[in-house]
Amino acid sequence: MSKGTFYITTPIYYPSDKLHIGHAYCTVATDNIARYKRMCGYDVLFLTGADEHGQKIEEKAKAKGVTPQQFVDEIVTGKGGILDLWKLMNISNDRFIRTTDDYHVESIQKIFKQMYDKGDIYKGSYRGKYCTPCESFWTETQLVDGKCPDCGREVHDAEEEAYFFRLSKYQDRIEELLQTPGFLEPESRVNEMLNNFVRPGLEDLCVSRTSFTWGIPVTFDPKHVVYVWVDALSNYITALGYGNEKYDDFDKFWPADVHIVGKEIVRFHSIIWPAMLMSLELPLPKKIYGHGWLLIDGGKMSKSKGNVVDPVVLVDRYGADSLRFFLMREFPFGSDGAFTNEALITRINSDLANDFGNLVSRTVAMVEKYFDGTLPADRQADPMDDELVNMAKGLRDAYEKDMEAFQTQQALTDIFKVISRANKYIDETAPWVLAKDPANNARLATVMYNLLETIRICVTLLQPTMPETCEKAFAQIGASEADRSWDNAARFGVLSETVTVKKGETLFPRIDMEKELKALDELNPKAAETPAEEEAAGPITIDDFAKVTMTVCKVLSCENVKKSDKLLKFKLDDGSGTERTILSGIAKYYKPEELVGKTIVACTNLAPRKMMGEMSQGMILSAEKDGKLNLVMLADEVPAGATLC
Ligand code: ME8
Repeated sequence: MSKGTFYITTPIYYPSDKLHIGHAYCTVATDNIARYKRMCGYDVLFLTGADEHGQKIEEKAKAKGVTPQQFVDEIVTGKGGILDLWKLMNISNDRFIRTTDDYHVESIQKIFKQMYDKGDIYKGSYRGKYCTPCESFWTETQLVDGKCPDCGREVHDAEEEAYFFRLSKYQDRIEELLQTPGFLEPESRVNEMLNNFVRPGLEDLCVSRTSFTWGIPVTFDPKHVVYVWVDALSNYITALGYGNEKYDDFDKFWPADVHIVGKEIVRFHSIIWPAMLMSLELPLPKKIYGHGWLLIDGGKMSKSKGNVVDPVVLVDRYGADSLRFFLMREFPFGSDGAFTNEALITRINSDLANDFGNLVSRTVAMVEKYFDGTLPADRQADPMDDELVNMAKGLRDAYEKDMEAFQTQQALTDIFKVISRANKYIDETAPWVLAKDPANNARLATVMYNLLETIRICVTLLQPTMPETCEKAFAQIGASEADRSWDNAARFGVLSETVTVKKGETLFPRIDMEKELKALDELNPKAAETPAEEEAAGPITIDDFAKVTMTVCKVLSCENVKKSDKLLKFKLDDGSGTERTILSGIAKYYKPEELVGKTIVACTNLAPRKMMGEMSQGMILSAEKDGKLNLVMLADEVPAGATLC
């Protein structure tokens, strides 16, 4: 019997580029919670989708020479697209919404009109900085050196007619809502919202645009399209059939039990979305959970920085379960975490291959060796069993407490404490010694049974994280379908007394760290070859400028880097008396031999960086315009070692 409904969502993703590991993190975490709730007996609806409108998509499509619809179709439903990625990662979403779906469009038009009729949407004018060639409005903070962030040209003050949502009207109710215990978690995000956005005074929100067309037209004023957040946030109710006939489970599932979102969009979910629902006079979601970011080299992953990690590469090499496990085990869900390939491989080797995989394979191998695979019914308990048995019995409750608080990392930590204890139990009981004397058979069978039962409980609770592996592990320990249930995870003594095990494939082969790191560097050349492009930080001081050392260097030798069509490897005389090696992604523009003997400039105090398995000690300066690149070269008489100032 169902314990009730549970409606859980992820943000709907922008299909402007391929998704990276950060997006996968959010979806895997949500999947983990959804699977856990199903296992507990809830009737779960897990929604994810794609947020397909907006100026950025319109521009990208134009640049590619396709329609915006074709552009998003390719990224969402095309080969290797979002749907394929979720399948590859075993994401168990029940529904997938696209904001270009007809039923969603129909609902948004109704929602917009409903808020307008209520007087919560009114016509005003949007003021901002306008770039005429790009036909784009920018806010002051988006400008780079006061210029258009896209094309670098001058912008000017401009106004455009737009509709606004009366967010200010809901100020008091939102302030109260944010202080409701449990509404916004982790709790640290509450003060951030109150202090940064609510208490300074909520401003009305621009909800329509006329400067681009790739959006849902406002029915009563069709030169306007609905601007992103009304369109995007409403997906959570349109996907249940609010305002359309496509689905009819709004009453069953709304309000949502939790919206899982990244920290940068907590504001939209905990302030704007509830205000919209207040305007529509609908119940509010029970919880917004803002998770942290996966960082790489201390910063956020982004296409423009060239540091995105492709989850497909990692799943291909290690399997979906290993990656899912790593994402959940390594990072506390509410905080930021640093992604590295080393951490991933270490986790797979230590937790999965050594601790978990080994426990299963050792136990199964011993039952096969000592009892031909089937345990005899005789038992002989010993007080030394108590600690393990009690830990295993208590595990489900601890796990449940963590999962209810979305502490997925802690939940896995609890499981792995029991796994470690079981490995220690093998050492303590020394089954290979017991096996020497048939008089010990009952004791040996008890040890084996305790191990199998501990494994059964752990595997049951690992299912939401590693569904495929758990199937295999259950088969190896001889667990029947009924043995695998949530209820049975709180009981010890569930497997048949005379259970039969079946040896299977190694669940997690050990990975050679050094070899893999090299292979990953080569497989993810983008991350390695594209020089990091810093976020625009506004004007810098002379002290900031002085931090960069640019040194004149003579090119001693230059050659192509094997297996890379982008990189050249330079040996340079930088005047220090020691040769400097720099790898630079300019193979497309120069033949190596034309550069030998040239006088160039390199940034020589950059942190060394590994590229395609080679250390690069700096960056060679070049000038780029319209996709054409020229190395900065100086006259031959400028000596090596001279610094630019
Ligand atoms: O924000 N680490 O879409 P989106 C962790 N369409 N999470 C990350 C991440 C990282 N490095 N990078 C991105 C949108 N994310 C809107 C949502 S909802 C009504 C509309 C997370 O594709 C990010 O925090 O830019 C966000 O929660 C999600 O991926 C989607 O990002």
